[in-house]
Amino acid sequence: MKILVTGGAGFIGSNFVRHVLAAHPEDSVVNLDKLTYAGNPENLRDVEQDARYRFVKGDICDGTLVRELMAGVDAVVHMAAETHVDKSNLGADEFLRTNVTGTFTLLEAARETRITRFLAVGTDEVYGSLSRGAARELDPLNPSNPYSASKAAADLLARAYWTTHRLPVVITRSSNNFGPYQYPEKVIPLFITNAIEDRPLPLYGDGRNVRDWLYVLDNCAAIDLVLRRGKDGEIYNIGGDNEVENVVLTRQILRLLGKPESLITPVADRPGHDRRYALDSAKIRGLGFRPAHAFPAALAATVDWYRHHEAWWQPIKSGAFKAYYDRQYAPR
Ligand SMILES: NC(=O)c1ccc[n+]([C@@H]2O[C@H](COP(=O)([O-])OP(=O)(O)OC[C@H]3O[C@@H](n4cnc5c(N)ncnc54)[C@H](O)[C@@H]3O)[C@@H](O)[C@H]2O)c1
Repeated sequence: MKILVTGGAGFIGSNFVRHVLAAHPEDSVVNLDKLTYAGNPENLRDVEQDARYRFVKGDICDGTLVRELMAGVDAVVHMAAETHVDKSNLGADEFLRTNVTGTFTLLEAARETRITRFLAVGTDEVYGSLSRGAARELDPLNPSNPYSASKAAADLLARAYWTTHRLPVVITRSSNNFGPYQYPEKVIPLFITNAIEDRPLPLYGDGRNVRDWLYVLDNCAAIDLVLRRGKDGEIYNIGGDNEVENVVLTRQILRLLGKPESLITPVADRPGHDRRYALDSAKIRGLGFRPAHAFPAALAATVDWYRHHEAWWQPIKSGAFKAYYDRQYAPR
């Protein structure tokens, strides 16, 4: 299969490209990525020389470019997005442009070029905060922040292209991912790298918010499964069945690094902070998917990865990220 991956230089994208090249020797991948602050060519340095891999720097909102790239592939795996909730709370223009207009541009091009599979990568955040139970695929969407609202819009557009145009769309909605190559604005790599540097870990609110953690390699395997075996027009939740309170997660990270809990520093809560996400993943289990990585071992492997890859995250944390961080977590 020839696959166009969008956003392949980001966290999940780079893990997914590596997964496909390793798991499917007959496949080839074109990676279209704008290389925003979150895209990093270092994430795929190890596959650059693979003849089955090609990188194209460009924007998913560029209709001419995406039509040209789609003409040469069988399937699209669309992951390019603005992804950080806190940034979307500061200003949502880029979120609407990339996540909504970009998805629309890709769907139009896919329709014109008769793509045989269009997989849109979505998020559990579109269901909004749940006080109990777990979201199923056809539950109402109830996004709380500009990021999740833009992702909900993208999902609904993709779904509409199946309903109206019979474009063979499938949608995945995964819970929070963690693992190697995650940009250190997100909580797990932020806390691991801060703890390594003996810096405070800024914990939002009372620390009792719950996320269902999924190891990125499990998400990649699930996306790959839906790409090949998912049914046209269907949505598949991908959860890790690992609901953990943020404060518990924080203590686990500190314990793995042998650092004191005194590094935990409560900060003012994120506005509109969703309390809890949870997914019912029965449908993708029906396709045969089971997460292969237990949470404690995967978290330990992730801590080890950041411990051994300071050369990857140090330049990020000391660059433009620093100004953002200092403003975001400034004492109020
Ligand atoms: N990380 C998670 O926990 C999580 C959970 C559920 C769903 N998702 C979804 O998975 C996808 C990937 O998330 P991630 O965490 O890897 O994100 P990321 O922020 O690490 O990477 C996003 C990538 O998209 C690229 N990009 C951004 N705008 C672009 C544009 N206009 N044109 C081309 N490329 C562009 C960036 O350069 C970057 O490489 C997103 O769609 C996100 O909504 C993420």
